[in-house]
Amino acid sequence: MTAPTHDPLTLSLSVNGETHEIRVPARKLLSDVLREDLALTGTHVGCEHGVCGACTILIDGRPARACLTFAAQMEGHEVTTVEAMGRPDALSVLQQALHEEHGLQCGFCTPGIVVTFEHYLRENPDPTAEEVRDVLSGNLCRCTGYQNIVAAVLKAAARMRGEAA
Ligand code: FES
Ligand code: FES
Repeated sequence: MTAPTHDPLTLSLSVNGETHEIRVPARKLLSDVLREDLALTGTHVGCEHGVCGACTILIDGRPARACLTFAAQMEGHEVTTVEAMGRPDALSVLQQALHEEHGLQCGFCTPGIVVTFEHYLRENPDPTAEEVRDVLSGNLCRCTGYQNIVAAVLKAAARMRGEAA
């Protein structure tokens, strides 16, 4: 049997439209590479088991758990993180609604929720509260009781449809 190699790999990663050449161990997780090698610390790491949703990113436009993905698997794919979705001085419609509806307290879960619903609202621009709760069940929040997050997502959806101020 061949012993596993711990030699670093050279990877070409496309993140938020930018290509990065990095050398990392083959076993390094995408969540750790984003945070430690690319300084994209908006992707949070909570459970590291695919349960809490804090590390949610988009891979080729689809939500995925960065903590369950090796960075080496991402060659040839496009990764999108919460940093691409809005900035403190230019919040996205959803981020603004989360702010207004008090949809966050400590904010630890918020990046994962933003990524999840930026994608979801493109697929379903007119969701019911029930549908929002169903999707939200994949993202754990210890602070808000979820009600304000649901209100924020519904408000953002209405604004995106041009129905709310
Ligand atoms: S840190 Fe990835 S799902 Fe919790
Ligand atoms: S706002 Fe604190 S975990 Fe959700």
